[in-house]
Amino acid sequence: MTKPTVVVTRQLPEAAIAPILEKCNTRYWDSEEPIDRNTLLEWVEGADGLYCLLTETIDDELLDAAGPGLRVVATMSVGYDHVDASALGRRGILLGNTPGVLTATTAELALALLLATARRLPEGTQAVQDGTWPSWRPMWMTGRDIHGSTVGLVGLGRIGAAFARMLGGFDCRILYTGPREKPEAAREVGATFVAMDTLLQESDFVAVHCPLNDQTRSLFNVEAFRKMKPTAVLINTSRGGVVDQEALYEALVQGEIAAAGLDVTDPEPLPADHPLVSLDNCVILPHIGSATVATRTKMAVMTTENLLAGVEGRPLPNSVDLS
Ligand code: GLV
Repeated sequence: MTKPTVVVTRQLPEAAIAPILEKCNTRYWDSEEPIDRNTLLEWVEGADGLYCLLTETIDDELLDAAGPGLRVVATMSVGYDHVDASALGRRGILLGNTPGVLTATTAELALALLLATARRLPEGTQAVQDGTWPSWRPMWMTGRDIHGSTVGLVGLGRIGAAFARMLGGFDCRILYTGPREKPEAAREVGATFVAMDTLLQESDFVAVHCPLNDQTRSLFNVEAFRKMKPTAVLINTSRGGVVDQEALYEALVQGEIAAAGLDVTDPEPLPADHPLVSLDNCVILPHIGSATVATRTKMAVMTTENLLAGVEGRPLPNSVDLS
């Protein structure tokens, strides 16, 4: 029997790449750097399966280049805004992703970012390093309490709910909003459904846990920041595109909100000379929400399982509903 042909767009841990090399004719981009678009368009021609990352755009152009044999796209991410899901659906191509395994890890990072931003940890360590740590002063480097605060979650999916559960020890009032109420999850984590405007007006911390799509692109814009408290902190661990970064910069500089903690930006990497990077009240991390050894390894292996199932004609262990 002839082996299926697959494209793998990045260097992977051994546990994830070994089964692919064994079972498939593999066009393997064995590099830490992203594959360039032209090479990907060439390599994908005639492939049965594609193993990709969130750095690759999977659109009609790429699907045309692949040809009619492509059966599965397996992305090593839970988010799939880089994939034109409706184009896959129209062509009957399956889409696999990695939900579940990164939930707690990403929620932990959101909590770390919340603490770092509220308590100004990067500013504090910077002062120690550059010798500007003064003698103890009553109001120096004062931040904001998380305990007793109101936390507003934009999105109460798996990660939002895990984050809310972790806040259980902080005695917060938890609000959430989204396209629809989620009574079961809300009951479990003690969250109350409110309209977006109410959430913006009442929250001390607003944490973004929604996917990027046409409804959420630039959800945090000039108007949204104006509705937030001047003492509020925005935390975003979902996708950079949910926030209008120019509006965020203005809101932070004008004091419309107090601070922001971002694990995601647009673009990524964010250039070091981007105006947001210059702000003390903006803590920026390099998209490391799921970045633990264990979780990234699980994600890579889960993507392999999706890819192999797809090219072997079995149901994907984790597929996105494209109907
Ligand atoms: C990371 O951002 C992911 O979507 O898995």
